[in-house]
Amino acid sequence: MPGDPGRKLNMPTLVIVGAQWGDEAKGKLVDALATDAELVVRYAGGNNAGHTVIVGDREFKFQLIPSGILHERTVSVLASGMVICPKSLLEELCRTKKLQPNIGTLRISSAAHVVFPYHLKLDALEEEARGANRIGTTSRGIGPAYQDKVARIGIRMGEFVDPKRFPERLKEVLVVKNRLLQLLGGEPLAYEELLAEFSAYAAQIRPYVTDTDIIVQEAVYGGNRVLFEGAQGTFLDLDHGTYPFVTSSHPLSGGACLGTGIGPRAIENVIGVCKAYTTRVGSGPFPTEQDNETGEWIRRHGKEFGTVTGRSRRCGWLDAVVLRQSARINSLSGWAVTRLDILSVFDEVQIGTRYLLDGAPIDHMPTDLEVFGRCVPVFETLPGWKDADLRGCRTLADLPPNARAYLDFIEAQTGVPVAMVSVGPDRAETIMIRPDLVWG
Ligand code: IMP
Repeated sequence: MPGDPGRKLNMPTLVIVGAQWGDEAKGKLVDALATDAELVVRYAGGNNAGHTVIVGDREFKFQLIPSGILHERTVSVLASGMVICPKSLLEELCRTKKLQPNIGTLRISSAAHVVFPYHLKLDALEEEARGANRIGTTSRGIGPAYQDKVARIGIRMGEFVDPKRFPERLKEVLVVKNRLLQLLGGEPLAYEELLAEFSAYAAQIRPYVTDTDIIVQEAVYGGNRVLFEGAQGTFLDLDHGTYPFVTSSHPLSGGACLGTGIGPRAIENVIGVCKAYTTRVGSGPFPTEQDNETGEWIRRHGKEFGTVTGRSRRCGWLDAVVLRQSARINSLSGWAVTRLDILSVFDEVQIGTRYLLDGAPIDHMPTDLEVFGRCVPVFETLPGWKDADLRGCRTLADLPPNARAYLDFIEAQTGVPVAMVSVGPDRAETIMIRPDLVWG
């Protein structure tokens, strides 16, 4: 074992976490930073995530695989905190290789859980049963797969790719799942067909499956640059998000420890990716939402439609209350502010700085959803940078003064410095302000 976990740590490790409700354009940043990383590790979620990475005239769409896969010398890890749909994984690999034949190394944790068709069916049936209280899931079977993990009946990658154990495990679990499907008004699944289809996937996935904890630990304690890629966003976290309108995993920076097998002292920096405005997909409170022409402008100009589901995203102004909570809960070192260019359509921009709860001012997010739902934002208005073309900006000084003032306002409201700014979808359209807050 290289290194000594007991010594004083000072490691080039970085977590990239979504600071809002997901879709903060993390993929592009991870891709840009992966150039410097030996290892890129995804620690939570499954193919409910969707990242688009544009490299020149090629557009890559990732759901499971870290975008680090585009860098040949980088090892990409799907760690134990994930739930993985084999079919989706193989399709993604095939799609990526078509656009770029030489990709990096892929490793999949034998402890990650496998998503099966009964999880997808149950996701749909459970949503239907919730009626008006539906969560608005991505229908990818994510919740039911994590339910199996917690219930200790899930099938893990190690068992899945073992032809001796998989048939037995599937038989045992399918009995329970078929009863459940029928109870909820669904059709049972045929064992033989499922076994044949999934055994074929398992054979293709087998070469990638291994003990990834040790790979990550050796890289971290060996002093290598390791990038932990968060999926979804802070307020979709099962414990700290706007429950029950959350996902079933831990997208928070802390999830990088639990979902990969390292301890908290092994994380050096945490970058919170926040959009210059706010979006949310699915149900749940969203105080700064603009269900009006402003929101429509943001949606249209920012093409705010889900990468995974195609659903239109709810849009609104930036919420500094949300960002302050995000900064604390993730112990952020710095912000990466994305999509600043999208706000160039406005004469003035607004930021929610606190809430009024039943008329009384508060400056934190209440944990109770019903109470949070009653919060009314108090906005501050800042001058905009209408019609300025930000996409050519490569340094902070290139940005219009009002755009710089907007970033200063974020820093002042949250106490966290802005480390990076993204001004367009291309890799190159990124401004690095504080490299010391990124890799240390
Ligand atoms: P699930 O993760 O499919 O169970 O969906 C639970 C909630 O999380 C829903 O509101 C989804 O819209 C939301 N969600 C899940 N993944 C993402 C994501 O990658 N971006 C944004 N929202 C997401």
